[in-house]
Amino acid sequence: FVRSFATSAQRANAFNHVTVIGGGLMGSGIAQVAASTGHTVSLVDQDNTILGKSMNGIHKSLERVAKKKFENPAAGEAFVKDTMGRISTATSPITCVSHTDLVIEAIVENLETKKKLFRELEAVAPDNTSSIPITDIAVAAKRKDRFGGLHFFNPVPMMKLLEVIRIPATSDATFDKLLAFGKDMEKVTVSCKDTPGFIVNRLLVPYMLEAVRMVERGDASIQDVDTAMKLGAGYPMGPFELSDYVGLDTMKFILDGWSKNYPDNPLFKPSSLLDKMVAQGKLGRKSGEGFYPYKK
Ligand code: 3HC
Repeated sequence: FVRSFATSAQRANAFNHVTVIGGGLMGSGIAQVAASTGHTVSLVDQDNTILGKSMNGIHKSLERVAKKKFENPAAGEAFVKDTMGRISTATSPITCVSHTDLVIEAIVENLETKKKLFRELEAVAPDNTSSIPITDIAVAAKRKDRFGGLHFFNPVPMMKLLEVIRIPATSDATFDKLLAFGKDMEKVTVSCKDTPGFIVNRLLVPYMLEAVRMVERGDASIQDVDTAMKLGAGYPMGPFELSDYVGLDTMKFILDGWSKNYPDNPLFKPSSLLDKMVAQGKLGRKSGEGFYPYKK
């Protein structure tokens, strides 16, 4: 949600201060890249334990970026320190949104939870989702002209793409600012209609689910499907490695939302294997086990 169109004498960035709501993988990654590209950032989540974990993750990721970006270790350390210094944390979005230029929502993939957040924020509105139509979320926003969709990809520091979505009510000024923000974040932007999953998830999630169904049917093993897609289609990760990376709970949230809204689309049918694994707490890398085991 675009709160103001402030300009800065010091920086050419479209926005100066960015509030990111949600300190999970996506929120942390967005906060990190916003800070490393010169924005000041407030990262908001429910409690300080989660935020401590987010800040740790950001620090680790920044060190990896610094190692690649700077030959001189002192310059790398300064980059990490400066970037960390631009991020502050908060447990309530209300305190941040009064002085922010852009609010990016990166909370759980659930329409009701997203709408609840809107109602709490009243005057502001979230901005980022990956599978829920932006228009459905915008129902809760009062100033729809300042509302649009920003869809980042995990890991945000590495993935070069940003999908920028407008709803009919999004003003040209807001849309242009969101595109400019994408450029400031050093991403390549693409746009599409407010269609389920936008471009990437609309193609990627059914593909990943069909891989799960192949294994459920006993057509091939997890390892062979992954090897096949890496070596036969040039993907950096196979669909099961990627599912573990994205999180099986996130996959399930996306699929449940779609199958509820589009019950006749066979691509969006629930998967009993995915449901079972999520019920067992096998959520992928973050829980220590998904389709593969991981060291905690
Ligand atoms: N932060 C910073 N740097 C990172 C990083 C991170 N989180 N992850 C990887 N890197 C960089 C580091 O420089 C790393 O080198 P290092 O280990 O010496 O630090 C380098 O990348 C190589 O990483 P790895 O050796 O761990 O492995 P890969 O070469 O396979 O690269 C990858 C990792 C970039 C994640 C690559 O495997 C990839 O592109 N995977 C596919 C990711 C993808 O498809 N994402 C989209 C998911 S869908 C989504 O997000 C939408 C949502 O709505 C569901």
